[in-house]
Amino acid sequence: MKNINVGIIGVGVVGSATALLIEENKDIIKARAGASIRIKKGVVKDISRTDKRVKIPLTTNIDDVLEDDEIDVVIELMGGIDLAYEVAKKALSNKKAVITANKAMLAYHRYDLQKIANGIPICFEASVAGGIPIIKALRDGLSSNHILSIRGILNGTCNYILTKMSNESISFETCLKEAQNLGYAEANPSLDISGMDTAHKLLILSSIAYGIDAKPEDILVEGIESVSQDDIFFANEFNYTIKLLAIAKKVNDEVELRVHLAMIDKNEMISKVSGVMNGISVIGDKVGETMYYGAGAGGDATASAVVSDLIEIARSKSSPMLGFKRSLESGLKLKEISSIESRYYIRLKALDKAGTMAKITSILGECGISIKMLLQRESTDKNYATLLLSTHKSNEANIKKALYSISKLEVITDKPFMIRIEG
Ligand code: HSE
Repeated sequence: MKNINVGIIGVGVVGSATALLIEENKDIIKARAGASIRIKKGVVKDISRTDKRVKIPLTTNIDDVLEDDEIDVVIELMGGIDLAYEVAKKALSNKKAVITANKAMLAYHRYDLQKIANGIPICFEASVAGGIPIIKALRDGLSSNHILSIRGILNGTCNYILTKMSNESISFETCLKEAQNLGYAEANPSLDISGMDTAHKLLILSSIAYGIDAKPEDILVEGIESVSQDDIFFANEFNYTIKLLAIAKKVNDEVELRVHLAMIDKNEMISKVSGVMNGISVIGDKVGETMYYGAGAGGDATASAVVSDLIEIARSKSSPMLGFKRSLESGLKLKEISSIESRYYIRLKALDKAGTMAKITSILGECGISIKMLLQRESTDKNYATLLLSTHKSNEANIKKALYSISKLEVITDKPFMIRIEG
């Protein structure tokens, strides 16, 4: 039986859980991998702060792993972008397979790494949706399909906040603090709430599904910071749930990639993905809709994905990194943000006086936007009203133009807020 020697770079929450999983489940891992797996070394910043249950040799020098000829596989769990990329490159040039959970690094360097790897396995199941095997589903299980769409709830922190705000009318700030205390948020939680963490994950999935080589800056990314109880009221009134969605959608020969708040019909399965959980719907042209649900963060769930990659490598059956034996000559292009179509929900705060509504509706009319539903709520200050409305289908260019003109009206007091309506 083969022996596989492993080095882990970064023995924090996920690294410790990975070491403990390999020890605890060693019999089943050996049977499934057809190999004995040994963690030869772990690299940490501060040995005294490492989880005492982890019984592996520790070092603070990354090169102790990267230059150890006996180490076959490097597991990169250090986070960050530039240094992690250098580490992955050096591991590959020293002929070591790489496993990474680093979605930010992959969002920028997945194509570079695929080129450099030249057949050496790079696996990254843990980078998207933690314990849910969505990479393997797209790369292997659904590989005979054209992917028509992917819609994902890929950030547990945002989903936790939005669920709490809907169910318990708790403020955004309190919900964020709770998510941080539970250990779900990134070290820098603005990556979560700005939608950027979700965008990193969407870019990884869209490369496998469509071969699209885009960077976070190329796609529409909005966060959840501005959601209010008024929006939740409107959503409840019209049977919607508000979620932060990652969307990849094929429209003719273009692909839309976007991350933003969305109102989704409460009866849709993805609407029911609550709390810190992640959920992904993938529609393939032959298979139809498939749905994946599970823990998207946390030590054990993420370690489960890391070790599944290790077993794949040990079996020597590793698939091409992004799922293509040769480049995907699909001719698909990234769709311009301005031409993306949707229905929209708009929240406005306005002076409650004669003519206000006429001014707003005339701007919408001039921009070719038709109103579908409309609600006016009294504000705590009786001089103001909160207007909540939804539109028929329009596009990003028109809605941006209309919201800009509305924001310049003297009767409008706060910046207009918009959520896209999906489905
Ligand atoms: N901060 C991420 C989340 C962790 O909240 O889902 C997993 O990537």
